[in-house]
Amino acid sequence: MTGRLDGTIAVVTGASSGIGNATARALVAEGATVALLARRRDKLEDLAAELGERAEVREVDVTDADAVREAVEGVVRDRGRLDVLVNNAGYGTMDPALEADLAEWRKMVDVNLTGVLATTHAAVSHLTEAAQGPRGVADVVTISSVAGRVVNGPGSNVYAATKHAVNAFSEALRQELGPKHVRVGLVEPGLVDTELTNSGRENTPDASSASELGVLEAEDIADAVVYMVTRPRRTAVNEMLVRPTEQGG
Ligand SMILES: NC(=O)c1ccc[n+]([C@@H]2O[C@H](COP(=O)([O-])OP(=O)(O)OC[C@H]3O[C@@H](n4cnc5c(N)ncnc54)[C@H](OP(=O)(O)O)[C@@H]3O)[C@@H](O)[C@H]2O)c1
Repeated sequence: MTGRLDGTIAVVTGASSGIGNATARALVAEGATVALLARRRDKLEDLAAELGERAEVREVDVTDADAVREAVEGVVRDRGRLDVLVNNAGYGTMDPALEADLAEWRKMVDVNLTGVLATTHAAVSHLTEAAQGPRGVADVVTISSVAGRVVNGPGSNVYAATKHAVNAFSEALRQELGPKHVRVGLVEPGLVDTELTNSGRENTPDASSASELGVLEAEDIADAVVYMVTRPRRTAVNEMLVRPTEQGG
């Protein structure tokens, strides 16, 4: 069977669970070879074992810029190119400012913003180079949030700030890289049933108590990513806001 991403090489951060795991599966199903980045090696190895030779494990903390660069360079060295970067790794708490731990605020900035910057910085020259190749285009997709578009209630403070920041960064990057045939896009999920929401994080009711129409599956977001990166090269889908049908804010 031929896939729409045959021959392409992708990096997915936060591939050890949730949206990153589903996205890595979906990209491999389309024919891509995917480097799985996250800290939990055991989870990455379980996924790589399922996916076979078109998946590889790179244990990395996205807050460590040197480690991120080494991982991305390793992928390019071993696989020869980089066509698709999915910036997905993320972390969130929703504590009101009066109760918040400053270390938690720093962690959100480090993972959700600095991690995206480090990974993008390491990847960008390889993406522009890949865009000169036979596919004629390369992709950066960042998993933001509804909280990157709207500040949705008390407690969303720093999480929303980090997601607004990546949205601004993504738009600037789009303006810079479009002429070099690199498409830059954002997917902004509403409530998705993942470890993040099941651990009581983010601004949403417990996913286990949400109805089918009130919560997305990780695969719904993976679908959005695949849609973006499989468009004809003239078409750049720059932003997709994907909420559960019943979600209000
Ligand atoms: N779930 C939702 O409702 C929702 C809504 C809007 C946006 N999002 C966004 O979607 C993205 C994925 O989240 P998810 O819902 O799939 O949650 P998840 O299941 O908790 O996944 C988070 C992923 O990020 C990785 N990660 C966290 N810190 C990291 C670090 N320092 N270095 C490397 N990897 C790190 C985790 O891997 P390790 O722990 O193995 O490192 C894990 O693979 C996040 O950016 C999140 O903000 C989620």
